[in-house]
Amino acid sequence: MMNKISYFRCFLIGTMLSAFSFSSLAQSVIIPIESKSNAIVLQAKQGSIPKVVYFGTRLPNKDEYSKISAQYRQGTDYSGIFNAAYTPSGSRNLIEPAISVTHADGNNSLDLGYVSHETRTLGNGVSETLVILKDPAYPFQVSLHYKVYANEDVVEQWTTIRHQEKKPVVLHKYASANLFLKANSYWLRQYHGDWAKEMQPEESKLTYGIKTLDSKLGTRAHLYQPPVFMISFDNPSMEDQGSVLYGQVEWSGNFRVDLELDPLNNLHITAGANNHASDYSLKPKEEFKTPVFLYTFSDKGKGDASRKLHRWARNYRILEGNGERLTLLNNWESTFFNFTETKLAQLLKDTRKLGVDLFLLDDGWFGNKFPRNSDNAGLGDWQENRQKLPGGIASLVKEADANGVKFGIWLEPEMVNPKSELYLKHPDWIIKQPNREEYLYRNQLVLDLSNPKVQDFVFNTVDGLFSMKNSPAYIKWDCNAVIYNAYSSHLSNQSHLYLDYVQGLYNVLERIRAKYPKIPMMLCSGGGGRVDYAALKYFTEFWPSDNTDPLERIFIQWEYSHFYPAIVSANHVTDWGKQAIKFKTDVAMSGKLGYDIDIAHLNEKDLQFSQEAVQTYNSIKHLVWHGDQYRLLDPWTNDVSAMMYSNDTGTSAVMFSYLVGNRYGDESKSPIPLKGLDPQKNYRISEINLYPGSKSAVDSNATYSGSFLMKVGINPVINSGRKSVVLQITEIKN
Ligand code: DGJ
Repeated sequence: MMNKISYFRCFLIGTMLSAFSFSSLAQSVIIPIESKSNAIVLQAKQGSIPKVVYFGTRLPNKDEYSKISAQYRQGTDYSGIFNAAYTPSGSRNLIEPAISVTHADGNNSLDLGYVSHETRTLGNGVSETLVILKDPAYPFQVSLHYKVYANEDVVEQWTTIRHQEKKPVVLHKYASANLFLKANSYWLRQYHGDWAKEMQPEESKLTYGIKTLDSKLGTRAHLYQPPVFMISFDNPSMEDQGSVLYGQVEWSGNFRVDLELDPLNNLHITAGANNHASDYSLKPKEEFKTPVFLYTFSDKGKGDASRKLHRWARNYRILEGNGERLTLLNNWESTFFNFTETKLAQLLKDTRKLGVDLFLLDDGWFGNKFPRNSDNAGLGDWQENRQKLPGGIASLVKEADANGVKFGIWLEPEMVNPKSELYLKHPDWIIKQPNREEYLYRNQLVLDLSNPKVQDFVFNTVDGLFSMKNSPAYIKWDCNAVIYNAYSSHLSNQSHLYLDYVQGLYNVLERIRAKYPKIPMMLCSGGGGRVDYAALKYFTEFWPSDNTDPLERIFIQWEYSHFYPAIVSANHVTDWGKQAIKFKTDVAMSGKLGYDIDIAHLNEKDLQFSQEAVQTYNSIKHLVWHGDQYRLLDPWTNDVSAMMYSNDTGTSAVMFSYLVGNRYGDESKSPIPLKGLDPQKNYRISEINLYPGSKSAVDSNATYSGSFLMKVGINPVINSGRKSVVLQITEIKN
């Protein structure tokens, strides 16, 4: 779709800007980078750094962009480049730069002047604008790339850097983008976390100076802080109103986002890979491509921004974003490392009994000299444990087949336990300081993916599994350790390690996808320690958190839902939490449903409920996976939380509602207004996923207009006896 490339030179609009002198006026060009609803407008003049003159809702008349600057009277910034489209360091800049270098001659200054720009259309509403900048004093070139997905109002921005100096130039900072925003005030919604506490939000008004969001963890880099954030303009963020910008660094490693409120009250967002301990020595003529910074803007609040981003993600990014998914039964929490072939044979039968599509064998199936019977041995030795699995993976695949289900398998191919054959054989493949004691995370170390031999090893591990005659149909790709003692015995330049590691990972994933384009893979990192849109190009789903207590999950899934569509959110019913299985299932069903419980331990009614739930899920999963998502009631501020999905014609929808308050009398006192329906259509509402023997409190014979449902709403009758309710909303055709 996107390889149909046709180039159109963008006409340079020599527009006179009243705020500038006559000599500049004649040479100024306006570069509008527009999507369906939004625009970023640059103003450029030969030899000077392009300036951002507008960022926001698109104006119907392009000619008016040139009048915007004159309407601001914020004072002087002294440098004249506060609003640079990409701020260089060491010349006139007085604020956080986007780029900082040491030239081959040792000079630290950089100036960037506009040379040219062009826009090429890539088809399907996608275009790329390229703006070329050069240092007037050095043969050093920076190109700004803006890839615009017009229909979804999403922009991907990155930078390429090259030079023709006599020796390498050291890049100290190399942001993907720096945005320049104007509002009266700015509110940042950021996230922090840890294992089992992913996506904890915090929203605050930005104050003058710099706020940095970053990671220095290397591999599961997003554990403490994910690379996503949002900025709302003038007010705290709202679901259906107000201007909001969502941002994300597409990079599965160390990232850095600086949010600088300058003295004139402009907000600068400088985002990219983290330059911490990562000077990059760029050889003459070599091209350095930064990761992508992704953003979307909406003047209709968070809900609209999310739906646009979800659409973009499904259409352009997530592997099989508009495709199917496999429901599954995982054995991690029911067996941990403790299983035998006989036990697995039973679990395969249970998979069939439950009615899900696939059985996922988790950690513990490998290692012989150092069997993987706990997390302190075996990682790296990817051969079936002969004692546990005498028949090997192939026999399990056959057994799965005989049960009419598919078979998936867990891998953590980037890691090694010191107690492993791999560790003994290839000490030089491991990231560790030569002169220091090893420091372990979960008893393991990280393999050096900057080394092509290690990349081959990881690729061959996956290839070995997928190319077997009876091969698994799914992989859960885990990554549990961070990088300590960052040192590669392969690299001559140690400050390249953090960048080259991630690039090495992408090289492997590219190779896997070239050979196995569609096999589903779950992105897991001890929970959600590594999810971003660069990684999701290769994965069909991700594991948001090991915390599957459904009450906790309502909050975690809610926050992820701002940035990722439900089709990629793997939600499992487990033994975490004391809630009834109905509540757990209703929470898991609002994304990609899976199970991680011992089916044999379910009582008769719970089993019957679960079997029926899988069937029910099959009847609504397309709405959840491919529909538009509407957040209805925020769990942070209400006793009842609700979320719904509707199809694009507004004929069918499903609403999930949960009791999140636990005080006496907490219940759904008022109707919940729905969204995404057609006001003109009439609907019937029926409660689904009922526990065997229970009766619905919702009248399924009543009919309601879309207008009623969206203005007044419907009460799902949530209370301490009905803690979760799933409603199906279906158009009644006359
Ligand atoms: C961490 C993952 O998040 C869990 O689901 C499980 O796969 C364990 N690793 C296995 O070691």
